Amino acid sequence: MAAVLDGMRALFQATPAFVIDHETPADVVAREALLDRSMGRDRRKKSSEKIRRNRIPAEGLALVARDRDGHVIGTVRLWNVEAGVNAEGRAVDALLLGPLAVDAAHEGKGIGSALMRAAITEARKRGHGAVLLVGDAAYYERFGFFAEKTQHLVMPGPFARERFLALELVPGWLQGAAGMMVASGRRLSQPTDFRRAA
Ligand SMILES: CC(C)(COP(=O)(O)OP(=O)(O)OC[C@H]1O[C@@H](n2cnc3c(N)ncnc32)[C@H](O)[C@@H]1OP(=O)(O)O)[C@@H](O)C(=O)NCCC(=O)NCCS
Repeated sequence: MAAVLDGMRALFQATPAFVIDHETPADVVAREALLDRSMGRDRRKKSSEKIRRNRIPAEGLALVARDRDGHVIGTVRLWNVEAGVNAEGRAVDALLLGPLAVDAAHEGKGIGSALMRAAITEARKRGHGAVLLVGDAAYYERFGFFAEKTQHLVMPGPFARERFLALELVPGWLQGAAGMMVASGRRLSQPTDFRRAA
């Protein structure tokens, strides 16, 4: 009996309490409910939400944390943006991260950090140059995000400058980047051009 219990215990300990996974369409309802619970319904009024509205996240960069039963307990997504223009006047491709949220019942277990690290690793692997976000510097500085990198950039709407942060994945990527951040990702649904279809 003791051997069976030891075996069960070892199996349980070997199974991680959560895993980071790619989001699927079947996760959308749970993800939205989680965001409403952790950020409130006013979350949709944020300036960063304007950039995300009607857009699809960057390829391979919608991640979730799942508990042992597969339930969504954390979420993070990244979005294609242009972070102003560089000194030559060319658009600076980058990613906007957010929202990041972890179910309140699972906070403080390292899930937010695991989502952030996975997102950064995946973004780097996919060749992106920089990630920007609007959030608490006290949380995001540990992942390398600083306001200094966005000092010549603005959001398309109200934002707190000290919360507008960036991480360069390629050193110097945001050097000289200035102007407004705008969405550049694929649209959620492309309206049919009937004139062209006719
Ligand atoms: C912020 C959030 C994603 C952190 O997730 P988490 O899984 O609890 O994070 P981790 O376990 O990886 O890290 C916990 C650490 O972050 C700290 N932390 C959490 N939120 C913080 C904040 N806003 N500012 C500073 N530190 C913060 C905790 O105090 C803890 O510190 P410790 O490691 O010294 O004990 C989660 O609390 C959440 O979803 N909050 C509500 C939604 C939200 O505000 N999201 C955007 C954040 S700006």
